[in-house]
Amino acid sequence: MTSFQTRIAGTGHFLPERRLTNHDLEKMVDTNDQWIRERTGIYARRMAEDGIYTSDLAHEAAKIALETAGISARELDMILVATASPDQPMPNTACVLQAKLGAGNCAALDISAACSGFVYGFGIADQFIRTGAMKNILLVGAEILHRFVNYKDRETCILFGDAAGAAVLTRANPGEDSKVYSSHLHANGEIGDLFVLPAGGTKIPISQKVVDEGLQYVRMRGREIFKHAVRTMSDACQEALDKNGMKAGDVAWIIPHQANLRIIEAVAKHFEISMEHVIVELEDTGNTSAATIIVAMDRAIRDGRIKRGQNIMLTAFGAGITSGSLFLRY
Ligand code: UT7
Repeated sequence: MTSFQTRIAGTGHFLPERRLTNHDLEKMVDTNDQWIRERTGIYARRMAEDGIYTSDLAHEAAKIALETAGISARELDMILVATASPDQPMPNTACVLQAKLGAGNCAALDISAACSGFVYGFGIADQFIRTGAMKNILLVGAEILHRFVNYKDRETCILFGDAAGAAVLTRANPGEDSKVYSSHLHANGEIGDLFVLPAGGTKIPISQKVVDEGLQYVRMRGREIFKHAVRTMSDACQEALDKNGMKAGDVAWIIPHQANLRIIEAVAKHFEISMEHVIVELEDTGNTSAATIIVAMDRAIRDGRIKRGQNIMLTAFGAGITSGSLFLRY
């Protein structure tokens, strides 16, 4: 069977302008700038204005990615939106985005893998392009998480923010050097209760009681997630290296899920790779779940850190507990 290679044709990202800083949070919960900086590396998170939806952020990022790729929305075979904060349960946000882009009648679906969603989506898209089933796929990671955060819960409200990032993935032309080496996707549902958004589904439908109890907001056992995050991301990166017979020294950049600077530093230490080879972009965004990796990647492409031909390792973990890696030559 003929096999094709997947190339990132273009990327883009969009961040809402409104910022919620550590100093703002000091006035809302019992916390302080120094604690948040030292424990997370975050100073500010972005917040979409009222009346702006996840699909709107996705639309802005997608327009930039399509323009950079030189591919029109009508040429897309599929739109994937990785999100934990869709516009609504139905229709999916990818279909809403398809209409906003005027992308015709290509396939459109959401990926629900929380913070691992972009890596999951990339792995899925790669399979369609590799086999020749599809040529152009728009993959977006987009979140408006602040609407699912309880601003009385100091463990979660310091972390999360809103953002969108997009990548246009396409079939590489013969002779082009870009490729996805491999993707490695995992989950451990046995410990799924470490990070949950309890209400809004069939288990706990929304009611006044639910709202009074704040069950429409995310709940997290932070310290335990921290440990799993370091282990699962390290394991997923090692799996990718082993599969391709490479070593950490062959990786130009690791782009881990941007949840917490200390988690990122622990992963780098595990790999004995200098932080100079790690993309860190969370100080002014916070944890934007499915958007973090592609926002960080697009920033690093645009400022020249990431160059064509380099080996890049993406790795993520999130609610589920989902995790994975995607290893590529850019
Ligand atoms: O995308 C996936 C989503 N989730 C994550 O990635 C979360 C991963 N976990 C983390 O990032 C960290 O666990 C947190 C940032 C959430 C917490 O940091 P930590 O270093 O694990 O703190 P801790 O939970 O061990 O708490 C240490 C202390 C506690 O006080 P005591 O018991 O030692 O007196 C907490 O009550 O810090 C206290 N604390 C705070 N203090 C000031 C917890 N949150 C705060 C806060 N401000 N916001």
